[in-house]
Amino acid sequence: MTWYIREIPIANRVVAAPLAGISEPVFRALSLSMGAGLVFAEMVSDKAICHQNPKTLTMTKVGKNEHPIAMQLFGSDPQSMREAAIFLDSQTDCDIIDINMGCPMPKVTKTKAGSALMKDVDKAVEIVKAVVEAVKKPVSVKMRAGWDSQSINAVPLAKAFQSAGVSMITIHGRTRAQLYGGKADWSIIRDVVQAVTIPVIGNGDVVDLKTYQGMLKETGCAAVMVGRGLLGNPWLIKSLVQEKDFSPTVTERFDLMKQHIDAQVRAKGEKAAIREMRGHVAWYLKGLPLSNPVKVKVNEAVTQRQMQQILSDYQQQLQNYLSQKPAESGF
Ligand SMILES: Cc1cc2nc3c(=O)[nH]c(=O)nc-3n(C[C@H](O)[C@H](O)[C@H](O)COP(=O)(O)O)c2cc1C
Repeated sequence: MTWYIREIPIANRVVAAPLAGISEPVFRALSLSMGAGLVFAEMVSDKAICHQNPKTLTMTKVGKNEHPIAMQLFGSDPQSMREAAIFLDSQTDCDIIDINMGCPMPKVTKTKAGSALMKDVDKAVEIVKAVVEAVKKPVSVKMRAGWDSQSINAVPLAKAFQSAGVSMITIHGRTRAQLYGGKADWSIIRDVVQAVTIPVIGNGDVVDLKTYQGMLKETGCAAVMVGRGLLGNPWLIKSLVQEKDFSPTVTERFDLMKQHIDAQVRAKGEKAAIREMRGHVAWYLKGLPLSNPVKVKVNEAVTQRQMQQILSDYQQQLQNYLSQKPAESGF
């Protein structure tokens, strides 16, 4: 079911969330190859773009196989948000420019950016207007339910952003005070869907087909954004898009890990890639029989060869184990 963010067609209702340190080009391309309708890049600082920080500029590069993609800015100064948005609009291949109003981390909120903007409605609207007026690409906002349970204000903010020209809104149904704990409140997503005419993406606690279908049904959202559920389980996207439960075979799981490692090494060089892949591999192995000592070894791997050897040995061990215990092969 194709839906639109202004004129950008989105082929289905599954969106890969921005995840700092994770939603890099390889992860985004992997999410799209699994069928995601839209991917987000991790947040980048407006000031860092304005100062032409080389690392940040690299983070704004978009590969040919990474569309459609929303690139996300965080900041609290309308002037530098505008300047950074103009850069994303004119100097990068992103399709959508997203403004972060959800990040709960103190290093972001103490600069009055991220979810802190939900406490300063005038500033939030000022930033949105400054960005919308300055760029040609569609602008979106990702926010939470509110700052805390006493100040749930996603509905009035969404209405104000729509009037200011925003083309899509993502709602994570938690407050800033909840950080990533507790439960996301999907009723606030439904309230926003009912209050605006632009598409709303629902987000929070979607981890399988049941929760995906539940969020669509309970909120009426245009699409569902999945974050932590994708860690070590990019197949979840395929399952949600096809609305069919799907678990990879052992061979599929290890083949994909190998592809992921290879791609990351090509993208980042061996040293950085292997360091980063330790976390991904631990997620891929989560819950598998006999995997705990393997995770410890993977954590000590320095070269691609070492990491691959540990995984090949474990794959063999796992296959032997499962062939003797077929009843336990249900993962
Ligand atoms: C490690 C991590 C990094 C995140 N980075 C970002 C980010 O850069 N920008 C953003 O808007 N949200 C970020 N988030 C929030 C997620 O996009 C998402 O809103 C949140 O995890 C709730 O969705 P989930 O329950 O499907 O994980 C991050 C979350 C995690 C766990």
